[in-house]
Amino acid sequence: MPFDFINTHLQARQQDALLRKRHVVQHATARTITVNNKTYLNFASNDYLGFGDVAVNLNLNDSHALGSHSSALVTGYQAQQKALEQYLCEQFGYGAGMLFNSGFSANSSVIKALFQDKAAAQNSAIFQDKLNHASLIDGAMHSNAALVRFNHNDMNHLRSRLEKSKAQNKLIISEGVFSMDGDTAPLKELLALAKQHNAWLMIDDAHGFGALGKTGLGSCEAFITQTLPDILVITFGKAVASSGACVLGSKQFIDYMLQFNRDYTYSTAMSPLMASHTLARIKSIKTADDKRDKLNANIALFKQLAKTHNIALMESNTAIQPIVLGCAEQTLQAADKLKQQGIWLTAIRPPTVAHNTSRLRVTLTAAHTEQDITHLVKHLIGAIV
Ligand SMILES: Cc1ncc(COP(=O)(O)O)c(C=O)c1O
Repeated sequence: MPFDFINTHLQARQQDALLRKRHVVQHATARTITVNNKTYLNFASNDYLGFGDVAVNLNLNDSHALGSHSSALVTGYQAQQKALEQYLCEQFGYGAGMLFNSGFSANSSVIKALFQDKAAAQNSAIFQDKLNHASLIDGAMHSNAALVRFNHNDMNHLRSRLEKSKAQNKLIISEGVFSMDGDTAPLKELLALAKQHNAWLMIDDAHGFGALGKTGLGSCEAFITQTLPDILVITFGKAVASSGACVLGSKQFIDYMLQFNRDYTYSTAMSPLMASHTLARIKSIKTADDKRDKLNANIALFKQLAKTHNIALMESNTAIQPIVLGCAEQTLQAADKLKQQGIWLTAIRPPTVAHNTSRLRVTLTAAHTEQDITHLVKHLIGAIV
């Protein structure tokens, strides 16, 4: 039978407790989520500052465009998108930026486009942390450059891989905050290694932007006055509570992307409405110290309560606090038990994470109360035994 592999794969996923399903969300805030007419405490949102609950007043007039109507290279590049790019460039000091409709598209297409020249790519290597996001790995796998992976946050391993490489063009890629482990990259060391080996550094700060840094500029904020990564990717779907992404770099690099980035060229540009909304949100993030303080207090409370109750956490000080249970089936069962107690948590299973490292990925936000976190820990104890 043609396409009978579809059924085979679906059955295998079901048997291995790896089947993925969607749930229709009737309403969600950073703190609660309503599914099937039942409202749960939400510990699975990436809206770390709780900005999704705050209305943005855009003062829209009737002429504000909703759609961008075409690719940015045709007529889709409107003043609102330019304003968002410019604001981000000014905050960081980058020469230019370009917007994408998603972080996945930004990451994968930038890597592919950078190495589009086959002859140059033969002489190029991409060094990626083993825990990098699928979009970064996909970009490298679809590029013509060699892909070299180094052990997670292991700078000695990266150094030895760089030393062995004969590639003329070396690109090191890491995440600012790792999406499934919640730990942070050693940026200072990465910047130093890049400099030492004449390599470029690309940082995907999807989970750092908004939540980290004195004014919410993310993992790289502390480096603005020194050296920044050559390429910085910021996404808007998490702490900004919007959607899309911006790639920042030198003017020459962005000019090159404008020529060769296929996602950018052959896709309708970000909606100007989305760009205005995102810019308004990003401006309020700058002064959202109260929300960052509350988020940090919630992280500290969760960690302290988990320690008191012997719940093993990973080495994370960020809003992402995974509890590794190992077995996929057990993790699903634990998530189900928590649902029965009114808590919504996602069971993260392979292939998102390595085999035998299935986990409950707890995400904390500024919108949670102390009682919410106490309630979570109380029921985690029962769910994970
Ligand atoms: C580290 C990381 N990079 C990139 C992305 C993709 O961003 P987006 O959701 O905007 O496609 C995600 C997840 O969504 C992520 O966790």
